[in-house]
Amino acid sequence: MEKRELKPELVESGDGSHTLKVEELKEHYHSHKGAIQESRYVFLAKGLREFDAASNVSILEVGFGTGLNALLTCLDQKRPNTNYHSLETFPLKWELLSQLNYPELVDDSRAKLLFEEMHLAEWDAEFELIEKFSMKKIHESLQRFNTEMKYDLIYYDAFAPHAQPDLWEPLIWKKLFELMKVDGVLVTYCAKGQVRRDMQAAGFTVERLEGPPGKREMLRARKNG
Ligand SMILES: C[S@@+](CC[C@H](N)C(=O)[O-])C[C@H]1O[C@@H](n2cnc3c(N)ncnc32)[C@H](O)[C@@H]1O
Repeated sequence: MEKRELKPELVESGDGSHTLKVEELKEHYHSHKGAIQESRYVFLAKGLREFDAASNVSILEVGFGTGLNALLTCLDQKRPNTNYHSLETFPLKWELLSQLNYPELVDDSRAKLLFEEMHLAEWDAEFELIEKFSMKKIHESLQRFNTEMKYDLIYYDAFAPHAQPDLWEPLIWKKLFELMKVDGVLVTYCAKGQVRRDMQAAGFTVERLEGPPGKREMLRARKNG
């Protein structure tokens, strides 16, 4: 998949927010029922909210894509500090990203400028998007990613197993378990039984949660101390 040239096409999802459709993979970047709705629910409500508002959080996202999760997380920033790292093998062009309607829909006057700054920022360099929210977009695959860092929270937002099975292999969960701090949390929109069992085999304690509107379930995994 990394060597294939994807041609994402802008489409509207159920809540009026855009997503990208990738014909080659028969996949969308988000739920077609609602991109903003899914991101707020799966990653913020079920992931970020698990951490006390007074604590620092370090986040690793797998699949930066349109930057929607990063934007919503940044706009939510009230903590002493948030550090957001996001992996991406296929950076999208600003020409396409600039057409996405997220800044208009999120109801925050800072959104347009932050969305632009985030996307035009250099890859593989740490920067402060707003005060107390530092970020690094990492142009690397999860499989090759190598770091000494340990993360509190992982947003696992890869394409679905049918489109990219290599990102849902047992070895992936072992790697993410190692990348996570004790008491860390991983959230993903995916609820496949095999994925849940593979996460458990890697050491995670896994919960099945109600999914975002239009999706029955999602998974939340923890690395218990
Ligand atoms: C479901 S989409 C991302 C959604 C994204 N979080 C957003 O809000 O737009 C999956 C993303 O994972 C990226 N990706 C594909 N293979 C990857 C890999 N091996 N490591 C990291 N990211 C990968 C894709 O290019 C795509 O941008």
